[in-house]
Amino acid sequence: RAEGDSHRPRFHFVSPAGWLNDPNGLSHWNGVYHLFYQYNPLKAVHSRIHWGHATSPDLVTWTDAPVALVPGDDADAADADGCWSGVLVNDNGVPTLIYSGRRDEQELPCVAVGSKDLTEWVVDAANPVISAPPAALELTAFRDHCVWPHPGGGWRQLIGSGIRGQGGTALLYESPDLRNWSYLGPLIVGDSGDRDTTADDWTGTMWECVDLFRLEAAGGDHEPVDPDVLVFSAWDDGVTRHTLYLTGRYSGTRFERTALHRLDYGGRYFYAPQSTLDARGRRVMFGWLQEGRSDAAAEAAGWSGVMSLPRLVSRSPDGTLYQEPVPELETLRREHVRLDGFVLTRGDRRAGLLPGDQFDIVADLHLEPGSESELVVRATDDGAERTVIRLSRPDDPDADVTLELVRTASSLDATVDATSRSGPIRHVDGQIHLRVLADHSALEIFANGQPLACRVYPTRADALGVEFVGIRGRVHVKEAASWLMADIWDAPRRLWPER
Ligand code: FRU
Repeated sequence: RAEGDSHRPRFHFVSPAGWLNDPNGLSHWNGVYHLFYQYNPLKAVHSRIHWGHATSPDLVTWTDAPVALVPGDDADAADADGCWSGVLVNDNGVPTLIYSGRRDEQELPCVAVGSKDLTEWVVDAANPVISAPPAALELTAFRDHCVWPHPGGGWRQLIGSGIRGQGGTALLYESPDLRNWSYLGPLIVGDSGDRDTTADDWTGTMWECVDLFRLEAAGGDHEPVDPDVLVFSAWDDGVTRHTLYLTGRYSGTRFERTALHRLDYGGRYFYAPQSTLDARGRRVMFGWLQEGRSDAAAEAAGWSGVMSLPRLVSRSPDGTLYQEPVPELETLRREHVRLDGFVLTRGDRRAGLLPGDQFDIVADLHLEPGSESELVVRATDDGAERTVIRLSRPDDPDADVTLELVRTASSLDATVDATSRSGPIRHVDGQIHLRVLADHSALEIFANGQPLACRVYPTRADALGVEFVGIRGRVHVKEAASWLMADIWDAPRRLWPER
């Protein structure tokens, strides 16, 4: 049933069927990429979550591995009600998972050790390895893990949480052996109480899926400024809001913040990301592209949730993150068209890029001050369905360009989310490097290294059109190219692959 669905991506990772949410245990182990994920193989609903598992030699094609973690059969198993998000670490050669075991509506840290090929997992008899959250704090939640070896020996861990009345937080622990943990205190606490709760950088009442990493400087021999990044997904009482990151410096038991940024302008559509350092020294990140259709529609389709394309995360000269799809994805490029430069003024329409529902577009634009243009994709001839990627530059030459995704006409299905998404794009003299990857309902846009991931659900089979449209001022499309993308899923898949 899942395969016949026109909304189902063909070159993104999706679960064989059922429900998928967060990426987990992301790692590059003995030359193989491992992607685990929050998985309900039985139904496209979030309940009794397992850990699905897939491997890849190249971050492009994926092979399903046996389900890695199954909730405990025994009613008093620490993970009887679900194996929630966590990470994989290398404990002196032993692959070890640290995840949140759920039982009786509470999550507590659990450990499992794996076979050499990471396909067979044995949960620790002592689970949960932390028996309760710190007693002195009034917490909103306590789950999800970021674990790393401490340079002085042993391990450090962050657990996502929130302090009532104060805001989201990441609680710091240390351990000599991944089994015995001592609480050190909150690494940093958000400021949700003081801020506008509707803002698109509101830090929430709880931080899900905290991910702390260090990035090298963009080049040069300077001491890196703000070398550390703390990514978290701002959550509020069951509502997944959006993913944010703090830049600053981690040392000892504290994170000194310098700035807060939105990670992806898609908001909740790029959620709960996790990153890893691969053997080539690259920071690779995946996130969960949530559905924009109703729970009932996803359940009827038999599948829910898409894993984002793998992203390379590096640092822009201004200290913010620069995100782009990994170059390996270019091996999926097939039929190709390239357009030479042209200028768009008000009312101009320029077709020529390949029509489709599975493509990769690259365009280099120069927006003069006071200009605006659109790249329209997934459009029917009569315009009844169309998805608009809008770039506009104010008259003030120093002001940011705005990237906006307009979904009001993306689908004739009135039950899908049609809200717009937008955010500022830094630029030098109006130059914008735009990349758009469309894969059925998955849509990932990158403008000067700033992503906007979202979902669209056109209903008509002819919603394949692509064109540039001039709105005002002068926009120079210096070069534009598109490729149709190959499928990565040609073999039939099974819900429970054999060992
Ligand atoms: C984030 C999240 C995590 C949790 C997992 C449960 O989307 O809610 O906090 O561990 O999903 O599936």
